Amino acid sequence: MADNRPIGVFDSGIGGLTVLREIWDLLPGEGTVYFGDNGRAPYGTKSKSTVIKYSLQNMRFLEEQDVKMIVIACNTASAHAYRTLAEASKVPVIEVVTPGAKAAAGATKNGRIGIIATKGSVNSGVYKDAVERFAAPGTEIYQQACPLFVSLAEEGWWDNDITAAVCKEYLTPLKEAGIDTLVLGCTHYPLLSSAIGKFMGPEVTLINAGKAVAEVVRDTLAEQGISGENSLRAFYTSDEPELFEDVASPFLGRGLPAGTKHFDTDRYSV
Ligand code: DGL
Repeated sequence: MADNRPIGVFDSGIGGLTVLREIWDLLPGEGTVYFGDNGRAPYGTKSKSTVIKYSLQNMRFLEEQDVKMIVIACNTASAHAYRTLAEASKVPVIEVVTPGAKAAAGATKNGRIGIIATKGSVNSGVYKDAVERFAAPGTEIYQQACPLFVSLAEEGWWDNDITAAVCKEYLTPLKEAGIDTLVLGCTHYPLLSSAIGKFMGPEVTLINAGKAVAEVVRDTLAEQGISGENSLRAFYTSDEPELFEDVASPFLGRGLPAGTKHFDTDRYSV
């Protein structure tokens, strides 16, 4: 039996659009409702309890849009809040940490993997644990928080001299550790792939979890028998819609459909 309800996707803001674009590419017939919590972003510097509260509120909003699945398209929210959301939700919840960790474990040849992410994700240890779960025993894992990458991505400074200097500052320890695989563990980082790749060199494989997440969405829909057809592509933000639309297109890799609406999820008590 088909389930034609849309898929709900949320992020702290616009980074999750790098996941949404992969879902659109792989599942063009499915409808989507995207919520960007721009008004309360960034999540990467906030405490676990705050990120859990925000994530529960965002999920409540998507549930009210009658979605058939929730995709947490934010690494920080996945790291802090996945368990809580999965327990509270009546529909399947997909997170973005495990698919990236699995891909990294499969890609490394020398057993040295780097993870770059927000402070919140790195400090949670969730990424490291997930890579350890899939990697061969003895795999060495190096983590690095790269908070300025989020601002560089939003500013459109994806590959210039300043980005190169910031890459050098953050990534030198990982390069010196001899990693051959680097997880882009934040939804903003794929936009900086070119600058990161130039600094790390061609022998280092960059892992962008977006594609792997879209595959998990596809497989889960099939397993649960809830695939469907729907042309809805709705966008909501907790900040000004114009601001969202101004910065969203590059993340989505194409023009954003007009008509983003404003919604504050902090009205929900959770
Ligand atoms: N979306 C967040 C993540 O993937 C990055 C931006 C933020 O800190 O809110 O971790």
